Amino acid sequence: MIKYDVVAIGELNVDLILNGIERTPEIGKEVFAKDMLLTLGSSTAIFAANIACLGSKTGFVGMIGKDTFGKLIESSLKKRGVDTSMLIYSDTYSSGATICLNYNEDRANITYLGAMAFMTFDNIDKTVFTQTRHIHLSSIFLQSGIKRDLLAILQFARENNVTTSLDPQWDPKEEWDMDYKTTLPYVDIFLPNETELKHITQSDTLEEAMSKIQPHINLCVIKCGRRGSILLQKQKEPIILDAFINNEVVDAIGAGDSFNAGFIHSFVRGRSHKESQITGNLTGAINTTTAGGTGAFTSKEKIKDIARKKFNQELKIE
Ligand SMILES: Nc1ncnc2c1ncn2[C@@H]1O[C@H](COP(=O)(O)OP(=O)(O)OP(=O)(O)O)[C@@H](O)[C@H]1O
Ligand SMILES: [Mg+2]
Repeated sequence: MIKYDVVAIGELNVDLILNGIERTPEIGKEVFAKDMLLTLGSSTAIFAANIACLGSKTGFVGMIGKDTFGKLIESSLKKRGVDTSMLIYSDTYSSGATICLNYNEDRANITYLGAMAFMTFDNIDKTVFTQTRHIHLSSIFLQSGIKRDLLAILQFARENNVTTSLDPQWDPKEEWDMDYKTTLPYVDIFLPNETELKHITQSDTLEEAMSKIQPHINLCVIKCGRRGSILLQKQKEPIILDAFINNEVVDAIGAGDSFNAGFIHSFVRGRSHKESQITGNLTGAINTTTAGGTGAFTSKEKIKDIARKKFNQELKIE
């Protein structure tokens, strides 16, 4: 029985955010921060929370520890309407955590990957594949277990008539070890940003990167920040869609995940690629109107209101 529109398979962690730090910390000394926030982190969680808010029935498969942070992650996802019954609690590893040191515009992050690095295809209850219409995979370079089993997961999804999307996200090791020629034929929608795509294909220009992946893709949407997005298919001209202009950007944290949420919400409802691309650009732009990745996504009405008031657009999410 189909229970979910979308199941996200991805990384989970908490963010411990320190603001107003008086000086750069030095070994052997101590500095004060003026403000602290402990909150749900991880880009796949932003995606899941926001697509649930748009109205998709959403489940999450991710690995966390049997600890306080794990409980915080689970309750935060639940509060945002994401089904957490498929979360996997590790006996061995702690939940992942990122400490974010904010210095005005700049920040330094330290991440402990913990349980998220160790989830594998074996850990995933296979009934998931008969309960959802779509699976979204993200942040493969943070999850070595999922990265190793990526092809098996994609192939299993296809055998079960489940469509898939993949957002590779940044590789902190900057090795960009992804066999795109083998993987992409099994991905229905590939969702990198332009820099990630150039790294994965070892290209100097975006044009070169697009021509390298084009023979292997089904559908690829390349996110280009304030310049919008490019939709690419096999043997077709790329479709470039300008961003919705926001002259008062608060920050662009999570814009890519919000783009993914809008695009996939529209795609699973059977809308055209063009409509899905417009919806993605709009939800990406809406993301930039408040701080963080989920601030603008509190209710359907609120999201539609921002679309109307800030961008003069009707957001089609029904
Ligand atoms: N400043 C902006 N103004 C309007 N729209 C924006 C802006 N920044 C991003 N967007 C929209 O959001 C989409 C995704 O943003 P971006 O290209 O930054 O993704 P990303 O690099 O994957 O982000 P993330 O850091 O969340 O992973 C863009 O394609 C665009 O449509
Ligand atoms: Mg991204």
